[in-house]
Amino acid sequence: MGDLYDAIPKVELHCHVEGTVRAGTVLELARKAGRPLPVEDPAELYRYTSLDTFLAIFWLVQETLVEPADWERIAYESLVDAAPHGLRYRETFFTPARHLAAGHDLGGIVDGLSAGIAAAEADTGVRASLIADMDRAYGPAAGLEFIELLVALRRAGRAERVIGVGMDSTELGVDLSAFKPAFELARGAGFRLTGHAGEAVGTGPRNVRVALDLLRVERIDHGVAIMEDPELVNRVAGERIPLTVCPNSNVVIANRFPSLEAHPFRAMREAGLVATINTDDPGMTDLDLGVEYRTVAAAQRLSFDEVAAVALDGVEASWLEGDDKRRLRGEFEARLDDLRPASA
Ligand code: ADE
Ligand code: ZN
Repeated sequence: MGDLYDAIPKVELHCHVEGTVRAGTVLELARKAGRPLPVEDPAELYRYTSLDTFLAIFWLVQETLVEPADWERIAYESLVDAAPHGLRYRETFFTPARHLAAGHDLGGIVDGLSAGIAAAEADTGVRASLIADMDRAYGPAAGLEFIELLVALRRAGRAERVIGVGMDSTELGVDLSAFKPAFELARGAGFRLTGHAGEAVGTGPRNVRVALDLLRVERIDHGVAIMEDPELVNRVAGERIPLTVCPNSNVVIANRFPSLEAHPFRAMREAGLVATINTDDPGMTDLDLGVEYRTVAAAQRLSFDEVAAVALDGVEASWLEGDDKRRLRGEFEARLDDLRPASA
């Protein structure tokens, strides 16, 4: 707590609000929802052998969110908890497929999240936007219906915080190309686009190509499989398409690498990729953004200047625009200059 890695100013572009929930909040919400957990401490559930075993637990946490006030609470707490670890701006995923299937109102969910973010912004100065993610486990038809609802909400002026659309959840055995109509609709309505691809064990760089070429996403979430395709690496680096990488998650959730030391993060940076550092689901992996930066820097032997470049790439990769982005970049540069060790 409170060291250089907490002080480094950070943007986070890959964080699921449902994966940030404090253990105590999960317990309270589960009780309130009449869905008590099978354990006293939710952390006892937080051990995973694959992305899909993680998702089974993630879905349990999601099911504790019943009313707009629950979404408001977790959005608020997630920013308040991240502020001491250097977070300055976050683009946060929410994935309400099971809530919509259960008859919840998308407008209420977005209102709740937006209210929580606004309150946290006022209390901490950290800013945040939302990315509406399709849950691939529910299939492309549900994805399209979700985006239709979202577009209607936007046209009604009720989705100002939602700046982008993405997809997450299970990857193995999913045909990403089936989500094309939903992404087309979202793009036509003015949403920015991203998508999880090349994360799960057993998936290769093909999913990254499909996401870029067919779904026309602007960023790739994870994308670590890209390292198996040097030609694609060169193209993605050349076009400065950002990859929102979550190294600790890739070890403890997807189990794609045996250790942080074995993660290709440094190789990705050295190949010229705009690879950023993110926590994914910090509440379910005993992480915060300071720990993520600190452990990745140590395991991958990143110098201060290499870490500072990652932080600045976070600003570039964000969907902030114009003066807003320039201002944040200037603030980051000034703070990083202050923090640079004399020997760096
Ligand atoms: N939902 C929450 N975390 C996820 C991850 N790492 N991959 C896919 N879906 C997710
Ligand atoms: Zn994710």
